[in-house]
Amino acid sequence: MMVLGIETSCDETAVAVLRDRTILADCIASQDDIHTRFGGIVPELASRRHIEVLPQLAESARTTAGIEWRNLDAIAVTRAPGLIGCLLVGLSFAKALAFALDKPLIGVNHLEGHLLAAQLFAPELVFPFVGLVVSGGHTSLYHARALGQYELLGATRDDAAGEAYDKVAKLLGLGFPGGPQIDRLAATGNAKAARFARPNLKVRGSPFEIAVHDFSFSGLKTAVAQLLQRSSPPAVADIAAGFQHRVVEELVRRLVAAAETTGCRQIVVSGGVAANRALRARLETVVHEHQLQVFIPPVRFCTDNAVMIAWAGMQHLQRGERSGLDLNAAATEELGHVGAA
Ligand code: KG4
Ligand code: ZN
Repeated sequence: MMVLGIETSCDETAVAVLRDRTILADCIASQDDIHTRFGGIVPELASRRHIEVLPQLAESARTTAGIEWRNLDAIAVTRAPGLIGCLLVGLSFAKALAFALDKPLIGVNHLEGHLLAAQLFAPELVFPFVGLVVSGGHTSLYHARALGQYELLGATRDDAAGEAYDKVAKLLGLGFPGGPQIDRLAATGNAKAARFARPNLKVRGSPFEIAVHDFSFSGLKTAVAQLLQRSSPPAVADIAAGFQHRVVEELVRRLVAAAETTGCRQIVVSGGVAANRALRARLETVVHEHQLQVFIPPVRFCTDNAVMIAWAGMQHLQRGERSGLDLNAAATEELGHVGAA
């Protein structure tokens, strides 16, 4: 099966061609250049840039794959969640293409794309598994029972982990996106010189008390801000290392707990923050200790890309699912029971 994937939910315009498990084209146009000076993503600028580059990028993907449009079996496109204007650009383009080519269309949930990406590279990864999607917009832990059936075990109560990376990087005077910058800088710092406490998620008497797999990162960001206000704060590299140590420990601890709760031996980590080197290294050690298996897509496929959308779409298409041309985008949509809309 040959599927064209389109991803425009945030600040990357991406188009890919996937033939079964073979990536024939994987084209990404990053928008970092336009958002860097604002220190964050400006939604209107992001959607306008998608409009400008998507047609040309799709043509590049087609020629890179060495195919004709008519060779495609289907079009898969991210329909939720994300920046609504951005999603609508990709969705409109995908619908037009599907209509003109008379090919099936399938709408894909972006989080499902991240969650299933690891399966493309590791056929031995099978349902059920525990999956953590950790990106700029999400820190969500799932029990992936079967294709389209994802139980949310826990999520962030405030900032996503990637968002915390970006905000802390801004406080430290580093560029945007902050994750890769802190990743690099932390490798040269000493985490023991800037220790950060574990977030206390227990609110006595609150219904949240039972959500043992939840995360919180906004207090950590505040702790970094307070540390920087001291008369002689630790070196920036040490703060980066201390912050990263705390984030990694929080993520890993919940993952191991979720594996124990569900009885799953296979765990998946995906999303932009899964590119983090310290997280990857720590996971390798921990899974060994707990006799688990961890699956993380190659770095390029942890951050937003269209290959994961084509792959997730292909799984649903193979089950006979199709979306109609009245398919709509949604800015928010939790992953639960996902199928064609
Ligand atoms: O999945 P993604 O590309 O976009 C979203 O769907 O959000 O994730 C982007 C996020 C950003 O917050 C970025 O700072 C973070 O992932 N990120 C990293 C690293 N690379 C990207 N965070 C930590 N370490 C990294 N190496
Ligand atoms: Zn993403």
